[in-house]
Amino acid sequence: MLVSSMRFQLKNILKQLSFNTFIPFFYPMMMLPLKGWRKKAIAMLSFAPGDRVIIPGVGSGYDLPHVPSSVSVDGVDISEVMLAIARNKLRNKDHAVTLHVMDAEHMDFPDNTFDKAILDLFLTCVHDAQKAFKEIVRVIKPDGEILIYDHLIRVPAWADLLMSGLDIVMKYSFCSVIREFNDIIKGQPVTVVKEIKGDPFGFIKGFLLRKTAVIDSYQTRY
Ligand SMILES: C[S@@+](CC[C@H](N)C(=O)[O-])C[C@H]1O[C@@H](n2cnc3c(N)ncnc32)[C@H](O)[C@@H]1O
Repeated sequence: MLVSSMRFQLKNILKQLSFNTFIPFFYPMMMLPLKGWRKKAIAMLSFAPGDRVIIPGVGSGYDLPHVPSSVSVDGVDISEVMLAIARNKLRNKDHAVTLHVMDAEHMDFPDNTFDKAILDLFLTCVHDAQKAFKEIVRVIKPDGEILIYDHLIRVPAWADLLMSGLDIVMKYSFCSVIREFNDIIKGQPVTVVKEIKGDPFGFIKGFLLRKTAVIDSYQTRY
């Protein structure tokens, strides 16, 4: 399992190691308090029967119960163990979900494929959040919706040094603690439609975005 992970780039090796070994054990405990808040955030999306939904960094599938079974889902992740847990949860469920071992920074989907994207606790986890977001905007249809549920808040000046130090370790093995929402979406053809609180403390937020224009795929590839 870990050997097959080696096909990914060096930047993801530590993250794959942690998400394929110890993180899956304590992840359910971390997610428990967020259950209702996550559901409320996903409910901002206006699902229509037949929609195609992409979930980059789908992990062990915590979003899946909140997505109606009338839509089809493609989930992408670099951790085979997280995907195996998601696959297990889907057993005996009548839901068209396809799970892919894939780097969300470079996805194998054509431009303008999906109606909706769900980015839950993903943009703080992926190595290059700007690149991943640009890639997600590429695969979303014009007028399509993007849901972001994450801790993308500005760190206060007094905590900057501490958080930057912590981030050096965290960003390679788990998730970044200093990313900001506006830095990630900057320059992309999206508008923010709605913003809600995502936990009791306002640390996590839910953002509903809409893709505003057709973008030239030449500009979005590298
Ligand atoms: C904090 S977990 C969130 C999982 C899920 N979205 C949730 O809300 O519970 C982040 C997930 O992103 C995955 N991930 C990190 N970098 C990725 C990448 N470049 N491409 C795809 N998935 C990635 C990790 O393996 C992990 O499963």
